[in-house]
Amino acid sequence: MTSLPAQPTSGEADEPVAPDADTSERQQRVTLRSDLRASLPDGVIALVVTAGVFALLYYRIRAETSSTVSVMPFMADTGEFWMYFLSQAFGWSALLWAWITVVLGLLLSGPRLSWIRPSGQRLERLHRTTSLNTIALIAAHALLFAAQLVRSDTARWHSALATAFVETFVPGGYDSGTGKLAVPLGQAALYLAIPLGLLFYIRHRIGRRTWRVLHRFVIAVYILSVWHTLLYGTNVWYDGWFRTAVWLLQLPIAALLLLRLLQPARRSEKLRGPRSHTGSLAGWTLRLGGRLAVAGLIAALIGVLVSGNDGGRTVPPSDTSSSHNDHD
Ligand code: HEM
Repeated sequence: MTSLPAQPTSGEADEPVAPDADTSERQQRVTLRSDLRASLPDGVIALVVTAGVFALLYYRIRAETSSTVSVMPFMADTGEFWMYFLSQAFGWSALLWAWITVVLGLLLSGPRLSWIRPSGQRLERLHRTTSLNTIALIAAHALLFAAQLVRSDTARWHSALATAFVETFVPGGYDSGTGKLAVPLGQAALYLAIPLGLLFYIRHRIGRRTWRVLHRFVIAVYILSVWHTLLYGTNVWYDGWFRTAVWLLQLPIAALLLLRLLQPARRSEKLRGPRSHTGSLAGWTLRLGGRLAVAGLIAALIGVLVSGNDGGRTVPPSDTSSSHNDHD
């Protein structure tokens, strides 16, 4: 995700990134309501992208080329399972929007790159609106999954609704197979994205510094989302170029994260030598450890891409009559 949400704004920091009284004044006027209004254009684009992905997934099911059906042959019934495919499509647009908003956030909090020239203001606003849309897309993904569970449940509607709610939204409620881990990862991403994004809008009450410190953890939302997808998405279930592409897309994020840590926009976040560091030695060690961990992550990503050892399952033989229904 998700990133998600909101951002390290230039004007509202206690140590402004680019001191600008005008910016500061404008930032004071940003409210959830004004950002929701501003989210409409990229929200509409997200819906168009979702519709395109849905059409593609639907076509692949009908053409019998979808790996979702290889994993779960009963899903070939498009009339019965269209909500599931729509949920998948929202999952992909959510992940794409999360990717975009994380990139924007890292561009804002990292070194100023001279070739990026919409103004910082526009980038900040786009970061906030793509963040809000990411949350909405994740919610749609989860709700459609729940709706499919209700539709496929033959029990009375209120008990079907309760089961679907528990399986979709309660950690541990979905208790079989890979989903035992994968679904709570997705839930954790959703539940963290909401406060870590929306706290921006009450930053005056909780303190801007508190908000900024909390917002940093939003990168965890994104990591959880990618982990959830690679673990459980049936369209990336098997080895192949698409799964590799999802891994590959994590490289720019990791590189921008490392750049942001090495050359933060805020001077106070720079890592100086242990002697000139003003805080505790433990704090300094932690910050150094963070930078080394991200450098290690980049090395690991390159290792995965070069070796092709990316956790994908082996594509089954074309005769699937033995039905390997293991997506549970
Ligand atoms: C309450 C939270 C969530 C639930 C219950 C949930 C549920 C699921 C399920 C059941 C699948 C398997 C679908 C398949 O057969 O492919 C799935 C896949 C997926 N999810 Fe989630 N998810 C949640 C959160 C998230 C989040 C936070 C993201 C990303 C921002 C995400 C993105 C995806 C993607 C991209 C797929 C792959 C779909 C495919 O293979 O076509 N999900 N999710």
